[in-house]
Amino acid sequence: MTLQPLLAALEAQPFAQAIREGTFLFPAIECVHVLAVVIVVGVVFLMDLRLLGGRAHSASLRRLLADAVPCAWTAFAVALVTGFLLFSSSATTYAANPAFQLKFVAMAAAGLNMALFHGLGLKDAATWDAAAKPPRSARIAGLVSLACWVVVVASGRWIGFLA
Ligand code: HEM
Repeated sequence: MTLQPLLAALEAQPFAQAIREGTFLFPAIECVHVLAVVIVVGVVFLMDLRLLGGRAHSASLRRLLADAVPCAWTAFAVALVTGFLLFSSSATTYAANPAFQLKFVAMAAAGLNMALFHGLGLKDAATWDAAAKPPRSARIAGLVSLACWVVVVASGRWIGFLA
């Protein structure tokens, strides 16, 4: 089954046409996209540095989770909506863009890694939350997450160069 007809139908929507043909909408939406992305990646990096352990950053992980993650999810929702609007403007081209595809693979991997850690790794967080060096599983989760998000941001930037 090909997605082409669906992507072409999306591109033909009046809002998608307005974003594609206007001079102001695309850059304005991309600005909001980048701002949202900065918040998501900023919070994720804070968390990952804590998971990697390190004297520079010994804040309570559970405190970070309580304080920072809700704002990261809000920013992620904004990144999703603005990303979709940008995508809709040239859906067939973006869908065939290797950098765009890589970005989604890396985002899916980051999501899976986070779900596994939240499902398995956080159970005993109370025992090591104050420790400077979290257990190996937490450090691996932090490293995988950092790597995934670096790929998401780099491939996001690359999209425009391969379009
Ligand atoms: C939190 C997750 C996301 C991150 C970290 C992210 C990151 C980025 C970055 C760094 C750029 C380049 C901005 C620039 O150089 O001006 C970008 C552009 C873009 N993103 Fe995202 N993005 C995310 C989610 C999404 C989603 C969910 C979609 C689609 C549904 C999407 C679609 C796009 C598109 C179409 C562009 C424009 C590419 C161009 O320059 O033509 N993004 N993103």
